[in-house]
Amino acid sequence: MRRILLWAARNEWLRERVPRLRFARRAVRRFMPGEDLPSALEAAAGLGSRRIGVVFTRLGENLVAISEADAVAAHYHTVLDEANARGLDAEVSVKLTQLGLDIDPETTFGHCRELAEHAERIGSAFWIDMEGSVYTDVTLDIYRRLLAEHPRSGICLQAYLRRTVGDVQQLLPMTPSIRLVKGAYDEPARIAFRSRADVDASFQSLSLLIAGRAREGGARLVLATHDSALIERIASFGGAIGIPPGVFEVQMLYGIRAGELARLSSQGYPARTLIAYGDYWYPWYMRRLAERPANVAFALRQLLP
Ligand code: FDA
Repeated sequence: MRRILLWAARNEWLRERVPRLRFARRAVRRFMPGEDLPSALEAAAGLGSRRIGVVFTRLGENLVAISEADAVAAHYHTVLDEANARGLDAEVSVKLTQLGLDIDPETTFGHCRELAEHAERIGSAFWIDMEGSVYTDVTLDIYRRLLAEHPRSGICLQAYLRRTVGDVQQLLPMTPSIRLVKGAYDEPARIAFRSRADVDASFQSLSLLIAGRAREGGARLVLATHDSALIERIASFGGAIGIPPGVFEVQMLYGIRAGELARLSSQGYPARTLIAYGDYWYPWYMRRLAERPANVAFALRQLLP
């Protein structure tokens, strides 16, 4: 089921048609407050009153014209300004293919630099999402260049990739901000752990490796997972070697296990919700279904009146 859903996420024919179906639009509302920025800002204000920060991401990937990337960058500058004007504790996270990586990586880097500078100026942070493995090297190259100039900028790394431990070791001397995830794409066994146990073990050991540096201020660590049992196991190992819960920042996606995030926040873990919005939600939504095929039943129930 997971492989079929990830195949469907990449299928052009479905990508054009599914978003027009009323039941699919209803189902996706579970994972995003709306398609436009005002809906996302409103949801963020509600979370802020519960002392949970946010990360905004506007859905989109693999653009075909560089002018589209310029428009996306302009949108994120607006997001930073609007969030700042409302006093929100907000950061932004962007896919590099949404900033034109497939067309012109130097333009992409230029946009990242301006967004990171803007974010830093208002006390926020600019994050880079991690996409499929064909983009890992170029994404890391751009992040290393960005980090040298903008020390608050961050990157997402995927625990399912066998290479990630080496990538973490290379980044750690640069005081990085790392958002660790399990990984959302369909990667072959040659380069990725495929079993849940192996991915969880990798997530745990990478977290503790980064936390060792984060405790001394040499990194920022985000555990971006809904697996609260895994988070608590990592924090318990960390506690045994003197790492306080405050070092383990937790992030979850809007609409998934919000109660667990609030509970972890009340226990002293810094917490943020990633709010995705926008009309290009189809591939992103299919990856969410692939993570938990039980969600397909929820989507199909929206067919009922
Ligand atoms: P796992 O899949 O083991 O789920 C643990 C539990 O959480 C499940 O038992 C279930 O109860 C609940 N759960 C998980 N997913 C759910 C869903 N979709 N619906 C309902 N319940 C669900 N990936 C990537 O490759 N690049 C990226 O840049 C990012 N960025 C990112 C940011 C943030 C803030 C988060 C939380 C996640 C990402 N991801 C990502 C996605 C990540 O790689 C991964 O696919 C998902 O987080 C699902 O895996 P879990 O870690 O939650 O664990």
